[in-house]
Amino acid sequence: MKGPVRVGIIGGGLMGRETACALGRWFALDGFPVRAELVAVCDVAEDRREWFRNVPGVRSIAADYREMLRSGEVDVIYVAVPHNLHERIYTDVLEAGKDLLAEKPFGIDLPAAGRLIAAVRSSGRFVRVSSEFTFLPGAQRVVNFVRGQKFGIPLEVRAGFWHSSDLDPDKPVNWKRQTSTCGSIGVMGDLGMHVLHLPLRLGWKPKRVHAQLQKIYTMRPDGKGGRAPCDTWDNAILNTDVDIGGAEVPMRLEMKRLAPGETNTWYIEVLGTDGGIRFTTKEPKTLWVFRRGKDQVWERIDLGFQSVFPAVTGGVFEPGFPDCFLQMWGAFIAEREGLLGEKFGCATPEEAVSSHEVFAAALRSSASRKSEPV
Ligand SMILES: NC(=O)c1ccc[n+]([C@@H]2O[C@H](COP(=O)([O-])OP(=O)(O)OC[C@H]3O[C@@H](n4cnc5c(N)ncnc54)[C@H](O)[C@@H]3O)[C@@H](O)[C@H]2O)c1
Repeated sequence: MKGPVRVGIIGGGLMGRETACALGRWFALDGFPVRAELVAVCDVAEDRREWFRNVPGVRSIAADYREMLRSGEVDVIYVAVPHNLHERIYTDVLEAGKDLLAEKPFGIDLPAAGRLIAAVRSSGRFVRVSSEFTFLPGAQRVVNFVRGQKFGIPLEVRAGFWHSSDLDPDKPVNWKRQTSTCGSIGVMGDLGMHVLHLPLRLGWKPKRVHAQLQKIYTMRPDGKGGRAPCDTWDNAILNTDVDIGGAEVPMRLEMKRLAPGETNTWYIEVLGTDGGIRFTTKEPKTLWVFRRGKDQVWERIDLGFQSVFPAVTGGVFEPGFPDCFLQMWGAFIAEREGLLGEKFGCATPEEAVSSHEVFAAALRSSASRKSEPV
């Protein structure tokens, strides 16, 4: 086994810890050709740094990320910080000569994403953007189905990502609910890359968008006994047009923080005249497939654990969030080493910029109340 690739994390919050867990069970990837290990962590918050003191292999824990950038002991940096910090920290990582797994949305807005991709190109570093749901077995079957052109004349595509925790008006505000730190794209910056990654990879970049954006709770508890503005878009419905094989096809994209009954539901559905396919994380080992026949029948397929990279987990077991996150990391490391082959790769900086172009058009559409070109 080659390696190890030495990984550092900047931002040890929700996703920084998830990355530590993925790297900590790297051996779950069966026969993977390269080793990757977490060696360094930076976070401005002491309680976040404290958590990493129990993580085996971590040799350096710091408050200032520039300490990690100066280190000769780190090859790849994963950055998971609020969106207003993406541009500064990603640029610093590239200038320090490190490879980068960036978090979405890859800059707080389209201009920031544009400057970032220019920095990526001039740096020559290997950079990908985090988007893990596409690595679930069901999502991969959707990719194969579409590439196998088993659906006849395309009718429509629906994709989305729904949350419900913001239904609680007493949930305290945090950086994801304020424009200055999350960005004017709001929920699209949180959930949009997840929704657009597969359509973009399949070549379905929206040409036009008609957006319905909602701000639902505009004030929330500030967590200190007072109230604070909550000024981001909460829910976004984007009705878009895409070109599929020369036909103009409606593609509806939904990103919602207030979706009753949904904890973390990512889904995609593709319908055509001869067939259709539907996958949702609500039923993580179930794939629904439609084939045109005399009767109207959706077949339910039990998927099991069919991962992009072989894993020790039994083939009949159920996949979940930590599994697709580890698979995404496997894709990042494999591609960095030139070993990805035909396997599905991580979201690219170009795909992230494309997603920002869609979100920017959605903001224009919401203001003009018309369909806008992307
Ligand atoms: N891929 C996914 O499924 C997924 C899920 C959630 C969030 N995200 C993305 O991950 C990123 C982080 O989100 P999160 O939910 O982990 O947020 P979080 O608030 O849980 O963690 C962010 C961390 O960054 C730290 N931080 C802030 N400024 C810093 C600085 N200057 N240097 C070092 N650390 C600093 C904070 O102290 C905090 O611990 C965002 O871009 C978000 O969109 C991705």
